[in-house]
Amino acid sequence: MRKLQTAVLISGRGSNMMALVEASRAADYPAEIACVVSNKPDAKGVQFAAANGIATKVFDHKAFPNREAFEQALDNYLRSMKVEAIALAGFMRVLTAGFINGWDGRIINIHPSLLPSYKGLHTHERAIADGAKVHGCSVHLVTQELDGGPVLLQAEVPVLAVDTPDALAARVLTEEHRIYPQALALLSNRLIAETP
Ligand code: GRF
Repeated sequence: MRKLQTAVLISGRGSNMMALVEASRAADYPAEIACVVSNKPDAKGVQFAAANGIATKVFDHKAFPNREAFEQALDNYLRSMKVEAIALAGFMRVLTAGFINGWDGRIINIHPSLLPSYKGLHTHERAIADGAKVHGCSVHLVTQELDGGPVLLQAEVPVLAVDTPDALAARVLTEEHRIYPQALALLSNRLIAETP
């Protein structure tokens, strides 16, 4: 079975990356995690990926003179690994238009809010502060507009009166781990149909 060669980009814990790796183990899952890339040398997720036999690479953005040089190195690596799609999973670097255009329609991101609400950071704090009754997560295609590309899948969770940001984040994260593998499967099936 043809599986879409997918890179997962992380900056930290990597729990969404782990969910993608777990899902990709199923024989009928349409994506294979070709590599895990981090911009942080100490990202916990890198150890998990390596321990699971996945190619790992660290590009410490601080070691590059500018954003373009960092992205060029990243792009060269991904192409050398025959990557066909990119899943951002807690990757905390903004990608430039130049990079995104080179992967048009092939980059997805998981964001902890019901987009278009709460783009950017501190989504759980903001939802609670607003008195929102419903919150959640979204997987979207990455375009030049930050957290603004077309949404592929969303999941809702209730916001409870007693919620702290951490409690709400944990409830959302459970849904992230459920829908991110589903969304990558959707993208993979679509791209494989285009290029069997
Ligand atoms: C997740 O909440 C994700 O939605 C956001 O960053 C967090 C990453 O968590 N983009 P993890 O590294 O996947 O555990």
